Amino acid sequence: MSVRLAPSILSADPTRLKEAVRLVEDLGADLIHVDVMDGHYVPNLTFGPGLVSALKRITSLPLDVHLMVDEPDRIIPLFLKAGADWLSFHPEASTHVHRDLHQIKDAGRKAGLVLNPATPLDVLSEILPDLDFILVMCVNPGWGSQDFIPSCRDKIRRLRKRIADSGLAVPLAVDGGVKADNIAALVSDGAEILVAGSAIFGHPDPAQSFLRLKRLAGGEKGA
Ligand code: DX5
Ligand code: ZN
Repeated sequence: MSVRLAPSILSADPTRLKEAVRLVEDLGADLIHVDVMDGHYVPNLTFGPGLVSALKRITSLPLDVHLMVDEPDRIIPLFLKAGADWLSFHPEASTHVHRDLHQIKDAGRKAGLVLNPATPLDVLSEILPDLDFILVMCVNPGWGSQDFIPSCRDKIRRLRKRIADSGLAVPLAVDGGVKADNIAALVSDGAEILVAGSAIFGHPDPAQSFLRLKRLAGGEKGA
């Protein structure tokens, strides 16, 4: 299984986003994770489609746009137009999950659902075959730098088994609290895409921290 790293720019210096994105791109990042918060679904407010279209001009990496918004159907078209490559939303925020997923897929982009710590896996039971990826939150959405919720590991293992039992190949991504001290364990639990914000951009040496996470995620010794 190849493990992918998706640095979250939420924890990067907003005055130096271009430098942050170029740094991780040059070091071998696989995706750029963009956290969109609307001040309703979560209290915080962050990035909009304007930033996504600006990022498209400075990186060739796929932009993985995580929508923490109410009624995602209203804003999905704006992010599709801006060039989001991967788009995920929270099922409890959507009235018509199937329709919203297919709005993304019909545009030729990857569509995912995001599970909060308290969201049961059963929310996926009717929709798993429609998903291009699943994002499991190990913190409650809204901010970077929060503490990892330990019960998330068991959930990842159960989801990994459920995906395997289905015979589908849906990538499992993990977001929130991913650090050097848990990334290898998360990979062994079944995480294939690791989103990390503060562990990279909150570190005094983001390049060194990124490379360390990459080594640890790859299971290499001595990282
Ligand atoms: C939280 C966001 C995360 C955030 C993770 O609501 O969805 O993507 O950037 O930050 P860290 O890695 O610091 O927990
Ligand atoms: Zn996120």
